Amino acid sequence: MTINLQETISLTELDAVGKPITEAKGMPGSAYTSEALFYFERDQVLGKTWAGLGFESELVNNGSLAPADFMGLPLLMARDRQGSIHVFHNVCSHRGMTLVSEPKPQARSIRCPYHSWDYDFNGDLKTTPFIGGVGVNHVKGFSCENNGLKSVRSHIWMGIIFVNLSGDAPDFEHFIAPLAQRWETFVSRPSFDQLHVSASESSMELTIKANWKLAVENYCEAYHLPWVHPSLNKYSPLSEHYNIVFTDDMSGQGTYVYTLSEVAGTELPQFEDWPKDKIRHAEYISLYPNVLLGLQIDHAFAMILQPQSCETTFEKVQLYYVGEKALDDRYQACRSSVLESWRQVFGEDVFALEGMQKARHSPGFSGGLFSPVMDVPSHHFHQWVAERYSASTT
Ligand code: FES
Ligand SMILES: [Fe+2]
Repeated sequence: MTINLQETISLTELDAVGKPITEAKGMPGSAYTSEALFYFERDQVLGKTWAGLGFESELVNNGSLAPADFMGLPLLMARDRQGSIHVFHNVCSHRGMTLVSEPKPQARSIRCPYHSWDYDFNGDLKTTPFIGGVGVNHVKGFSCENNGLKSVRSHIWMGIIFVNLSGDAPDFEHFIAPLAQRWETFVSRPSFDQLHVSASESSMELTIKANWKLAVENYCEAYHLPWVHPSLNKYSPLSEHYNIVFTDDMSGQGTYVYTLSEVAGTELPQFEDWPKDKIRHAEYISLYPNVLLGLQIDHAFAMILQPQSCETTFEKVQLYYVGEKALDDRYQACRSSVLESWRQVFGEDVFALEGMQKARHSPGFSGGLFSPVMDVPSHHFHQWVAERYSASTT
C-alpha cells in the first residue's frame, strides 16, 4: 500500500525523534493510531527486515501446515516430509483461494479446498484436476511448472520462524550476529541449541489493545519496574538493572539479580557452560521489529508481536527449558511456576500499554519525552522506527 507518509507524520516530527535524547521527542500519536500507517509499516518497516511470524513448534510433525497472518497478509507455514520449514503466500495460483485456514498437523499435501489443485510441501504445483474438462487433468498450453506457490524468505532461529517479506534484507546470520555474539558470553552456541519446548508449560497468548510499537518500547526499558511490577521489583530491583544498547536492530535491559526458579527444593536444569560468576544475570532484549526475548540460566522465552491493527496486538509467548531432561515430570511444577510468573509480569504491563494507546489519540500528546538515563533503550527503538519512516520518503 502506498501512502503519503508526510500527510500522517511530518519530517519535523521525525527529525525531533532523531535528536540527542535530552532534546528528543518520541514518535507522535499518529504513528500509533493511523490505520493507513499500519499497512505502510507492514511493507516498509516489518516487511523489509526479519520479523517473527510463528514458532517452529506450531508445526509439530513432518507434513504439518499452519496459516499465519502477517499484518493482513495470509501466509502459510509448512514443514515438509524431511522436516524442513517453508513459508508461502497462502494463496492458490488458480483463482486465489486461501489454501489453508486452520492448522493441519498431518497433511498429505497442500490441497486447495476450492477446485482441488494440489501442491507439494515445496510449493510445487503437482495436479490440476479437470483443468482440461471432466476427467482431463492437463490442458494444452498450461504447465504446472512456474505455477507453484509464491514462497516467502524465511529462517529459523531459537525456534522462531522469521520471515523477510521484501526478500532483500541482509542475510539472517548477519542480522542476528550481534545478539548471537553477545549471548555467547552466557551460553555457547551448541548449548543454546539445547532449548526445548514443553507440551503444556511453554505457551501463553495475550491480546492487547495497543499498537505493537508500545509493546516493544515498554519491553526494552526497566524504568517502570517499581510501579508496574512491584513483586518482581522486590527480588530484582530496578537499581540492579542496566540498559542494553549496543547495535542497530535491538535494545533492552539486563539484571544482575535474577532469582532462579525453585519449587519445593527442585530447580530447573541449567545451561552447563553459563559462567559461574554470572549465575544471576539475565537479559531482556527487544529484537526489532517484533520479537521480545529473555535469557536466564535456567530458561529462555520469546514473544512474537503480531500486529492485528494499529490499535491491537496479539502476543504469542513461548518458553524454552534447558535440555531434554528439563521436560521430565519431576520438573513440571517448576515449569508451571516459571510460566505463571511470566504470565503475571506480562499481564501487569497490559494496563500501561493500553493506557498509552488511548492517550496517543490526545491532541495534548506530541511524542512525549525521554529520561536521558532510564529511557535510552526506548529512544533507540524510536530512532530505529523514525529512520525507516524517513528512508521511505526519500
Ligand atoms: S482456487 Fe484453488 S483450485 Fe481453484
Ligand atoms: Fe514490564
